[in-house]
Amino acid sequence: MNPILNQIASDIDRDGYSITQGFFNDEVLENLLVQCDVGLAEGCFKEAGIGTGSRHQVQEKIRGDQIWWFSRDDAATAGGLFLQFDRLRDYLNQKLYLGLFDFESHLARYKPGSGYERHYDRPKGSVRRKLTVTLYLNKGWSIKDGGCLRLYLMQNCKNFVDIEPQFGTLVIFLSELFPHEVLASHRERLSLTGWFLERI
Ligand code: OGA
Ligand code: MN
Repeated sequence: MNPILNQIASDIDRDGYSITQGFFNDEVLENLLVQCDVGLAEGCFKEAGIGTGSRHQVQEKIRGDQIWWFSRDDAATAGGLFLQFDRLRDYLNQKLYLGLFDFESHLARYKPGSGYERHYDRPKGSVRRKLTVTLYLNKGWSIKDGGCLRLYLMQNCKNFVDIEPQFGTLVIFLSELFPHEVLASHRERLSLTGWFLERI
């Protein structure tokens, strides 16, 4: 049993969010980074948009990342990653009765100068999103590189925590409760963001 699971569950239970290091081992992280490079070289990443269905539009000022929807079928080497997400889901369901079911995820690349304005992850059209998870893939990040995830604590936007997108850092929060934004990044910023969905 990964001891960090216990930490994640108690943090989410108490605060609604959790920030940890070390849930994924280095092999999984390195594989994912290789996968990112392959996807970038092969043109798998597309400009991300906002809104769903016919209201979908690309607006770089609001959201400047490029994304690649990424599932366990996309890479033989990603098996360990998705198994670990399965463990997380099962443990959180067992401890916190969250009713997590499916999982959807994308890799994201922010080029220098881009960010993502404050938003919720559960707009109309994404009502099944229960829990957001973001895993960062940037080695040697420093505060001067910008690009922090700013997580506003509950709906009161006066209090927030800034999280550096450091290699191996995993942020998890209840999608419905936390507005958040990605501050402008001054270097390339890579991450995987996923959502555990409720069954409907
Ligand atoms: C998102 C998002 C946060 C991050 O993709 O919806 O908020 O830190 N990402 O990359
Ligand atoms: Mn988001």
